[in-house]
Amino acid sequence: MNKTFLEVKKILKDAQIDEAEAKARIIVREVGHLKFEDMLLDKDVENKEEVLNFAKKLALSGEPLQYMLGYSYFMGEKFIVTPDTLIPREETEFLVRCAIDKIRNLKTAPNVLEIGTGSGCIACMIAKNLPDIEVLGVDISTNALQVALENAQKLDLIRKVIFRKSDVFSSIRDGEKFDLIVSNPPYIKKDDYLKLDKTVLNFEPKSALLAGEDGLEFYIKIINEAKKYLKPSGFIAFECAQGQADDICGLFEQRGFEVCDVICDMAGIKRVVCAGVKKGVQL
Ligand SMILES: C[S@@+](CC[C@H](N)C(=O)[O-])C[C@H]1O[C@@H](n2cnc3c(N)ncnc32)[C@H](O)[C@@H]1O
Repeated sequence: MNKTFLEVKKILKDAQIDEAEAKARIIVREVGHLKFEDMLLDKDVENKEEVLNFAKKLALSGEPLQYMLGYSYFMGEKFIVTPDTLIPREETEFLVRCAIDKIRNLKTAPNVLEIGTGSGCIACMIAKNLPDIEVLGVDISTNALQVALENAQKLDLIRKVIFRKSDVFSSIRDGEKFDLIVSNPPYIKKDDYLKLDKTVLNFEPKSALLAGEDGLEFYIKIINEAKKYLKPSGFIAFECAQGQADDICGLFEQRGFEVCDVICDMAGIKRVVCAGVKKGVQL
């Protein structure tokens, strides 16, 4: 291991930063501009002072590494993130893959609504993986939408992805109908919010995380209103927290939807629930 890596790791460990080793590796690679193969060959950085100063700043502030870098990786792409946007999580890839599977074989070019787009990572990765598609990403936060737009521009997706400010469906016009509504909404229940890891609690936007007493308020709101905005064979796909999938399945069933997929993440947690409108149910 190169010398700078060992020093960075020590700085982070001494400050009791979580996952010090993994973070040290990222800092040395990203701030030290090393390629993956440079790391394997133990090549050292040429800007050691800059790398150590970055590590010291992180150790002092406890800020998420991704906010300090100004970006995060999601499904192999680099996304700008700021304190106005949630940092994309690895498990969200399951939601994106489920969404793509549901609309991949449609005969006409599909259109998708993403509610709570944040950095735009879900909207962009759905659009990037399907040739003919239109994705509308909405969010209540104007600052997050600005970041999402920059990400879509950087990924050359502005012909396929558009963004709009909306409180859930408030800006969706009558007659706008989608093949798929996808959302990773805020889903942390009130009692769990203060128990979140300090890095999340102190730095990530509360409005992206907290969802009332039981964590289900966005699912209820979306399921209750979705039929107005879905095409007859449309789907809804949600990401959810551990322990929420069965409640969400129940909500779907009660409101005329048929659950078609419940997908577990790498830890075996039911993470994605997808449902379609039941045949014969009036839209
Ligand atoms: C859990 S984050 C998901 C961000 C991003 N889609 C991702 O998966 O990384 C939830 C998002 O919902 C947005 N949000 C919160 N309340 C909202 C509302 N009433 N209407 C629309 N979006 C909302 C937040 O601003 C945040 O960007």
